[in-house]
Amino acid sequence: MPRLGLGVYKMEDGKEVVEAVKSAIELGYRHIDTASFYGNEEGVGKAIKESDIPREDLFITTKVWNDEQGYENTLEAFDRSLNKLGLDYIDLYLIHWPVPGKFTDTWKALEKLYKDGKVKAIGVSNFLPHHLEELMKDAEITPMVNQIELHPELHQQQTREFCAANGIQVEAWSPLAKGKYFDAPVLKELAEKYEKTPAQIILRWDFQNDIVAIPKSTNKDRQQQNADIFDFELTEEEIKRIDELNLDEKGRTGPHPDEFDY
Ligand SMILES: NC(=O)c1ccc[n+]([C@@H]2O[C@H](COP(=O)([O-])OP(=O)(O)OC[C@H]3O[C@@H](n4cnc5c(N)ncnc54)[C@H](OP(=O)(O)O)[C@@H]3O)[C@@H](O)[C@H]2O)c1
Repeated sequence: MPRLGLGVYKMEDGKEVVEAVKSAIELGYRHIDTASFYGNEEGVGKAIKESDIPREDLFITTKVWNDEQGYENTLEAFDRSLNKLGLDYIDLYLIHWPVPGKFTDTWKALEKLYKDGKVKAIGVSNFLPHHLEELMKDAEITPMVNQIELHPELHQQQTREFCAANGIQVEAWSPLAKGKYFDAPVLKELAEKYEKTPAQIILRWDFQNDIVAIPKSTNKDRQQQNADIFDFELTEEEIKRIDELNLDEKGRTGPHPDEFDY
């Protein structure tokens, strides 16, 4: 799984998403993160088709939305996503949110899709340890990925530890916290030291913490910036200083999985 991808949430289907995905692919991105909820799978598929990159070199994630969950519904939702994307398999299919009473049946459908070879990997999103424990109680396959809101102000330590102990790859959504605290002194100072930007310092912090990140940008320069994080290294002490930004739950920019309005 490529360690850095392009998130496409809130990109409009049509020109906006097509151009953004094409420019990211031209810049070397090989990992795109969409979802049926984003309403732009068709545009993502169009950009893939119009790029010269062989399908097997790309890593495409999509997700089953809350009102599509349950066993049969998920199988149907998967076919819809596959059709919209114009693909014949998905690299990573995720349960978007842990809808109470539904997600274990949804997982059974993902296991079937995996066994049938229609998806290369299956995982979840926004799952806390208690959701993972419930899902794993009668799962045949352990989720391979958990995509959660994660950035320096929201460490998600317990979920990360649970995932590490169970071989689940953690992936960060809103890795830049939508730019909310780029002016934090430690980020500005390190950006100056390494001649990088605060966004690049955060994405390097992810990389050195073994977290896959999927920053969203429709802007080619910022896409390039976000992918240009592999030529410098933060020291352990600098990582600890970035860690001090953590606000735990107060650092959330999105909903808490147990308080989401399902
Ligand atoms: N599983 C889930 O429940 C869930 C929830 C939310 C998001 N996600 C996924 O995670 C992806 C990323 O999250 P996100 O879109 O919420 O937030 P994000 O990636 O943290 O931040 C995106 C915002 O930051 C700006 N930006 C990007 N790079 C920048 C840079 N180098 N310098 C300054 N500003 C920059 C973007 O503007 P420009 O576009 O103008 O550059 C955009 O406004 C989503 O697109 C989606 O794929 C998943």
